[in-house]
Amino acid sequence: MEIDQSTENLEMLTNLLTSRYFFTCIIIFYFFIHLTVHPPYDCYLVKICSFIQHSNNLFVIIFYSWSLTFWEDGDNLKAIDLSSLPIGKVLARDIYDAEGRLLLPKNVMLKPSHLQHLLNLNHKTIYVIENDHNNQPRTQDFKYEQEETLLPVVFVSAVETIRNLMCQIIDGHIIKRSEVEDTMDLIVPEIIHTNNVWHCLNKIRVQDDYTFQHSVSVCVIAVKIGQAIDMPEGQLRQLGIAALLHDVGKAKIPTEIIKKPGPLNPVEIREMRKHPLYGSQIVNDLSFPDRDIVTAVLQHHEYADGRGYPLQLSAENIHPYSRIIAVADVFDAITSERYYRPRFALLNAIEEITRETCGHLDPIITRRLIRYILNIVPGEKVQLNTGERARVILANEKEPMRPLIQTADRFIDLSEERELSIENRL
Ligand SMILES: [Fe+2]
Repeated sequence: MEIDQSTENLEMLTNLLTSRYFFTCIIIFYFFIHLTVHPPYDCYLVKICSFIQHSNNLFVIIFYSWSLTFWEDGDNLKAIDLSSLPIGKVLARDIYDAEGRLLLPKNVMLKPSHLQHLLNLNHKTIYVIENDHNNQPRTQDFKYEQEETLLPVVFVSAVETIRNLMCQIIDGHIIKRSEVEDTMDLIVPEIIHTNNVWHCLNKIRVQDDYTFQHSVSVCVIAVKIGQAIDMPEGQLRQLGIAALLHDVGKAKIPTEIIKKPGPLNPVEIREMRKHPLYGSQIVNDLSFPDRDIVTAVLQHHEYADGRGYPLQLSAENIHPYSRIIAVADVFDAITSERYYRPRFALLNAIEEITRETCGHLDPIITRRLIRYILNIVPGEKVQLNTGERARVILANEKEPMRPLIQTADRFIDLSEERELSIENRL
């Protein structure tokens, strides 16, 4: 901290000595001394002419230094406080950390992620190019980086795979394991490398294809949870397969029960509850080398309190994959639009899944999912409770759902404007 302070003081002094205001002060001071020590005071015009005539050397020095200042500063260097969020401004000087490592080179256009990084390292002041007219702070046209991911494309392809598989099962055909494995080889790396999977899920999911999309969405959420609990990549792949196939047994349930718009009667419920067993038989026939996949599909509706189905297992006997899939299953169901109810907004979904956790879901896994949901990073799009859309500018470590955001026409600190809240990550 001491090094930071002395560096800051040195920078302030350098800035002062090379600023045009400093030289302007010297000129005024010189005028003042010259006029006051050489009376008469009533003949200022003569004195000024005399001053100009006899002060050529001083003028040359001042003019030269001032020109150097302009030349060195390029487009007029200006110290600016980071709290003023100079997004879109161009950095005028390199920024180093206390150990002399380059953090940001000059001429970089400042992005929210740069500011976040500098603020995390306790930087308070930076130098930007002041009169770069092309880089005035903008609110309307500022372009944020869009996360590059193929997840939406791979998602659609995975939906097609699961649709084909279930159609083949319904038609009595034998399905190939390689189709599932090929899909998994494509989707798992994309899930791992995509920070905001909600953006993809919200963009792609439509009501029509719920059964198939639900399978892929559960796969995406389950793998994300697995990643959050540091599961090795090989296991993430097995977990992904189990999650993708968790409801494959529904292909053996009569369509009129699956597509029934209203609540099921007791007989239909009994039939529906057979789908984990049917599913485990189908997956068993695929002969995956990892037998845990069969177990995970069989146990995905077991509850921690032993009141699940089909085996009524207690919490400690439920396979970890099944516990993750159960959380992903419930979370996707409550955040999806259905014909009989609108989807839950993200904050409401967190409350709902917290309620579901009691007795049903694994609380540790649920907490990891919630932590991932709350990990809102700068640059993300969010929707407010007013319906307004915004971009996250700075994260808030103490209150993750209350970051600094930017709407179309202003910055909003959600930690201060408490009546506003984030309803959804987009
Ligand atoms: Fe299920």
